[in-house]
Amino acid sequence: MNTDLPRLMLRRFQRQAAEGLGLRDQLCETLRQAIRDGVAAPDERLPSTRTLAQDLSLSRVTVEAAYAQLEAEGYLRRKVGDGSFVDINMGVQTLAPKPAKRPAPVSEIVSKRGQRMLNTGGCMEPMQLQAFVAGSPDLQAFPAETWRHLSQRRLRRQAPELMRYGDPQGRSELREAIARYLVQSRGVRAQADNVLVLTSSQQALQLMALMLIDEGDAVWMEDPGYAGARTAFLSAGAQLVDMPIDRQGAVLDPTRPTPRLIYLTPSHQFPTGHTMSLERRLAFIAYAQRTGAWLIEDDYDSEFQYDGHAMPALQGLDHSDRVLYVGSFTKTLFPSVRLAYTVLPAGLVDAMVVARSIHDGHPAQLMQAVATDFINQGHFAAHLRLIRQLYHSRRDALVGALQQHLPWAPPLTCSSGLQLSVGLPPGSEARLTAQATALGIATPSLSQTYWSAPKVDGWRLGFAALPPERIVEGVKLLGKLRPAKKA
Ligand SMILES: Cc1ncc(COP(=O)(O)O)c(C=O)c1O
Repeated sequence: MNTDLPRLMLRRFQRQAAEGLGLRDQLCETLRQAIRDGVAAPDERLPSTRTLAQDLSLSRVTVEAAYAQLEAEGYLRRKVGDGSFVDINMGVQTLAPKPAKRPAPVSEIVSKRGQRMLNTGGCMEPMQLQAFVAGSPDLQAFPAETWRHLSQRRLRRQAPELMRYGDPQGRSELREAIARYLVQSRGVRAQADNVLVLTSSQQALQLMALMLIDEGDAVWMEDPGYAGARTAFLSAGAQLVDMPIDRQGAVLDPTRPTPRLIYLTPSHQFPTGHTMSLERRLAFIAYAQRTGAWLIEDDYDSEFQYDGHAMPALQGLDHSDRVLYVGSFTKTLFPSVRLAYTVLPAGLVDAMVVARSIHDGHPAQLMQAVATDFINQGHFAAHLRLIRQLYHSRRDALVGALQQHLPWAPPLTCSSGLQLSVGLPPGSEARLTAQATALGIATPSLSQTYWSAPKVDGWRLGFAALPPERIVEGVKLLGKLRPAKKA
């Protein structure tokens, strides 16, 4: 690879910015020109999307979209696992006489809604395991043999049925299993009829936003908070009203514009880790009853409580059907299982099932059937016990290593979850992150989860998927960074 390529591209990219194109189009044009001018030669490997995104301070989604566009135009050849290469037939000679037609800027092609979605930048989950990528469960600990065995048995017994279209609400046997689990372990008031099986929490949030928000409606959003939720609400046209977070969780301020929806992570506030107090839970429920607002309870990682028991779900305290409860198997089984669930107020079930049918029908029947057996035969409970212990010991390893090697990065809270947020000296996050990246360590940003609240510098360190020795090794490496700038 031409090692000067990223620098040359950065310069060209900055020049393109003046042309008033969207980021993806700017990058496409930069790359086209680089190929036409021979700066990137035929068959030359281009930087990975991750590297280029970092070099140009773009999201990976944008770089991925630009590479895909150029592949469609024939400029690039991409091989999974190998990389992206300038097409062998694309050279100065071939291209110079016939300048490529510039595609219309994406803003002229997409709808207003589409543009709103693009403006959010989308939400990409990390695909590679690396210290300390946030939110990944340990897939080595998953009983894949048991899953294989259950899949084979279901296929042997039910192959044609499981290959047909299924119920858009989800298989009733799985809804029953989910309802039983949630009643017993989370104190949720659930029956199979109120459960809707989805592919992800993200899909739940997106459908709720589409079904319940009109353009301009106020939505109260935790700040700092989960970008996936924010993205869903913004793309539906919501006006976000940011709620600050204190030790009792999100702060309720009735003087703010009355919302259609309120988004909460009461068990383990994302990303501070605070558990919402009972008093605050009751206050939100009373407010929702009074105003007719809907409460979304995103109970995304309540299974991973290490010190004592998790507080039961807020939904179980509500007797007026204002809460839409969301949970996911992404962390408790594995991310690509693509199974999540929501427990809905009775009056919303049919509407959400119709919305769901328009969206994507239903998750794969085979996955649903196998997940049902996995739960009903006790494997789920056993797996949860195992990974809770495993992650507990990893959490301890991380806290211990931080105390020893990184006293300048104190944990905000650490009693639950798959990641631990630590604070950094004010103003140091960007510099320390760049240094950590140079050491090959991912340190997801804490400050980027803040919108209007004063930003807190820090990192969200994912620990669940890493053996203790890798945790300690990673923290020791981070210990070499200098938290304060030299005077
Ligand atoms: C706050 C929050 N909600 C939900 C999820 C899970 O989302 P999904 O089921 O879409 O993978 C995550 C994942 O990291 C999260 O952090």
